[in-house]
Amino acid sequence: MSGRSQHEIWAANPKPASISVGEPLQMGSAELTGRRGDGSLQSEVHLWPVSLQRSAPEVERLRSLLSSDERNRADRYHSRDDALRYAVGRGWLRRLLGWYTGISPREIVFSYGRRGKPELSNPGGVPDIRFNLSHTREWIMYAFTLGRDVGVDIESDAFAEESVDNYLRFLAPAEREQIQSLAQGQRARQFLTYWVRKEACLKAIGCGFAISPEEVDVSSIPTVSLCLPLEGTEKRISVHVVDLSSTGGTRGAFALVGGEMPIRMRQFSPHQDQR
Ligand SMILES: CC(C)(COP(=O)(O)OP(=O)(O)OC[C@H]1O[C@@H](n2cnc3c(N)ncnc32)[C@H](O)[C@@H]1OP(=O)(O)O)[C@@H](O)C(=O)NCCC(=O)NCCS
Repeated sequence: MSGRSQHEIWAANPKPASISVGEPLQMGSAELTGRRGDGSLQSEVHLWPVSLQRSAPEVERLRSLLSSDERNRADRYHSRDDALRYAVGRGWLRRLLGWYTGISPREIVFSYGRRGKPELSNPGGVPDIRFNLSHTREWIMYAFTLGRDVGVDIESDAFAEESVDNYLRFLAPAEREQIQSLAQGQRARQFLTYWVRKEACLKAIGCGFAISPEEVDVSSIPTVSLCLPLEGTEKRISVHVVDLSSTGGTRGAFALVGGEMPIRMRQFSPHQDQR
């Protein structure tokens, strides 16, 4: 994994006027251990970008936090990078959930929705923390809320301009029109912006691509209306969407079911998080 990622800064971009984005948190990951979250999840969504650039001893420590099922899954990946991404992703997820709940990271229990969305499932008196995560080659982005469904997606900003035409069919009519009105050179970036918004929305409601991406019109944010695929109903819900980007060019979006809420980006300082 390349060496530049830890120094990238993440932001909600453009910063929506109605949303306050907190300063990056200059906190070392060692400070998470044995402490309980600071309570601000009551009134904020927290986003945690975590670099995948990890020392071998830290990867081992993270792996040791996983359940046997998770370790087996990590071992089944053919690619070493995929196995590493999964193990680091789950290890950090356990650490962060441990911080929020006061439960030891190894004791965190997950259950899975019909389409595979992981959920916190420890019994008895545990706060209703909802979360989602997304990986690229260099980053994992986590989103945490209290009691509100959330989805997040990040992608490396490397979509080829010549590929856009092949993917237009996955866009809603309004999105397609907007992209076709753009000059060559600007279309791939706009496509990626729409794509991460769509994935974030679909991940927020946990249904993956059970809803076709062209049915999710994200051409006008922050509010996206989604039709839930419930048998025999036409239930619509409103999802609040915010674009994310890093100084290194990674793009993303997060989606929160219901209305808006302040966001805090909790980025570790680069020199403090290799514990
Ligand atoms: C959810 C999904 C869109 C993510 O795809 P992706 O862009 O390749 O991967 P990302 O890195 O952004 O996200 C992966 C993470 O999302 C989470 N996730 C998995 N399934 C999810 C779902 N249904 N909803 C929300 N989040 C999900 C997991 O935490 C996963 O990481 P982990 O396995 O390391 O824990 C994709 O896996 C999917 O569509 N799953 C649903 C399967 C499905 O519906 N199939 C039917 C097709 S008709």
